Amino acid sequence: MTLAEKQVLITLSRLSDYDKGADAVTMDAFCRYFWDREKCDWTGAYESLAERGLIKIKESIPYITKPGSDIALKLTTIRNWDHFWKTGMDSPAIREYCKIVNGMDLIQDNNSDDAQRRALIEGLNLGPEMNVLDPGCGIGTLTEHISDLTGARITGVDFSPFAIDMARQRTDSKKDGLTFLVGDMDELELPDNTFDAIMDFDSIELAQGMTKALDQLRKTLKPGGRIALFYQVATASGAAKNALEPDNNRLSEYLHKSNLTYRTQDFTQNDIAFQHRAKEAAEKLEAAFLQEGNIRKSNNMLANCEHYIKLYESGRMRRYLYIIEG
Ligand SMILES: C[S@@+](CC[C@H](N)C(=O)[O-])C[C@H]1O[C@@H](n2cnc3c(N)ncnc32)[C@H](O)[C@@H]1O
Repeated sequence: MTLAEKQVLITLSRLSDYDKGADAVTMDAFCRYFWDREKCDWTGAYESLAERGLIKIKESIPYITKPGSDIALKLTTIRNWDHFWKTGMDSPAIREYCKIVNGMDLIQDNNSDDAQRRALIEGLNLGPEMNVLDPGCGIGTLTEHISDLTGARITGVDFSPFAIDMARQRTDSKKDGLTFLVGDMDELELPDNTFDAIMDFDSIELAQGMTKALDQLRKTLKPGGRIALFYQVATASGAAKNALEPDNNRLSEYLHKSNLTYRTQDFTQNDIAFQHRAKEAAEKLEAAFLQEGNIRKSNNMLANCEHYIKLYESGRMRRYLYIIEG
């Protein structure tokens, strides 16, 4: 899809629901606001989107269709992740934040600490000559770190083109051990029977359909391959106590249905400590975030960890590592 088509589709999806169109002046104004100076020439974009059924045009007014709206949602999510990683790359405060919360000077976006990373490596028996997939790898700093540590050859996949570009540029000299591909976990286009293991740091849950993504990911595994993934379970207040158990949630239901064996390790205490470090770091770095123009981001970070701390304090959340025999 061209940039012009993406801009038209996203703008129209922001402005209209299925039966309300948007006139050209409003489209133009909103797009300039949303895309800043990046608005490009839209000649031909309406027509080509209409031909593919993603929009329809009635009396010169464009309307988005349901398929168009679904694609616009995905494009918007990708754009938000691009933006997320761009901000991270440019921000010393985020780097410092990751150092405090993850315990490593790497820009990353997951809840892991050293113990969790070691448990994942041991659970998958990662070592040289293994072919490993890292879906939702982001800018691949952790992918690279784990490849350096274990000698495993790792393929990182992410749907953010910006993140993959950053990962490739940074690891250009490590092409034997690292490959980075733009790809969508919801429509994975990887060959079957390729990987010895799949490692996931807080990404698979973000797929639109987690179980569909897992079905596709499992196909890429060689016989005997394993998946390691971190999974957070949260319950509504008043929910049954056993709703937090590792064998009583959406993921375990899928694993049972698929006749997969698995074991779990409880990292709830590590995550409670993680959330407290995150709160302290966000507070400590508030002035640095403000100076960088990232105060909204730091406020969001603070609100998130306060939310999780409350959930943990009311006994409504747990974090597990699942090691699954694929
Ligand atoms: C929570 S971040 C984790 C990034 C990385 N694993 C890390 O630990 O730093 C989630 C990542 O998953 C990617 N992602 C989300 N949904 C995706 C999808 N459907 N297909 C591919 N990547 C996706 C995002 O772009 C983002 O980089």
